[in-house]
Amino acid sequence: MVKLGVNIDHVATVRQARLAKDPDPVRCALLVELAGGDGITVHLREDRRHIQERDLILLRETINTRLNLEMAATDEIINIALKNKPDMCTLVPEKRKELTTEGGLNVVDNMDYLEKQIDKLKFAGIDISLFIDCDKKQIDGAKKVGAKIIELHTGCYANSKGKKKAEELDKIISAANYAKNCGLLVSAGHGLDYQNIIDILQIEGLYEVNIGHSIIARSVYIGLFEAVKTMKEIIITYSKTNL
Ligand code: PXP
Repeated sequence: MVKLGVNIDHVATVRQARLAKDPDPVRCALLVELAGGDGITVHLREDRRHIQERDLILLRETINTRLNLEMAATDEIINIALKNKPDMCTLVPEKRKELTTEGGLNVVDNMDYLEKQIDKLKFAGIDISLFIDCDKKQIDGAKKVGAKIIELHTGCYANSKGKKKAEELDKIISAANYAKNCGLLVSAGHGLDYQNIIDILQIEGLYEVNIGHSIIARSVYIGLFEAVKTMKEIIITYSKTNL
């Protein structure tokens, strides 16, 4: 079945709005796990606008599933990853002024640099995922620099409608098939919600979906446990993966 990775950055965003103790991403991670989440994702941004290093330390000590650290491939954050040893690092591009990760990583133009940074993480036993657009050149690049997983950027699919949405879905499906044939595990993420996830789950052999905003938004109305449980039930119902 497709794994559900839940991104809990937004919990820390609310906490940081008041520099308070609550809501606490560490306690929320426990609820995500109890509700059936297969992994916890946090993005330690260079500007520390939501998740703090302390959250990472506590999550590493407390969660029972898998910890996925989303991060820029800078020396500073790589050193933090090496200290805390998440199960997986997802490398993303990062811009200070963006609201959220805006596009995929440009692997092709940064092969040597990325390979060097990825080697450090792999040597520490950390799985590497690269967040990329649905582009064969970027997929080839991801394979060459030693990634185990690619996470396909589903933002354009999520933000479009009608014919354009169908075209974006086709792009994701063909990129996923191409990457699987290259021997990569294929995940998907960005903008996925309780409706648009269903077509994404038709991708055979999909490894994981990483979802943040829609789950945390729904949790404001019905609670985090129910919000995660509902998403998990959708995955159980529609997943075409027998991994
Ligand atoms: N995957 C990656 C690489 C991301 O950067 C994000 C956003 O932090 C997500 C998944 C989750 O996206 P959303 O919050 O839109 O579900």
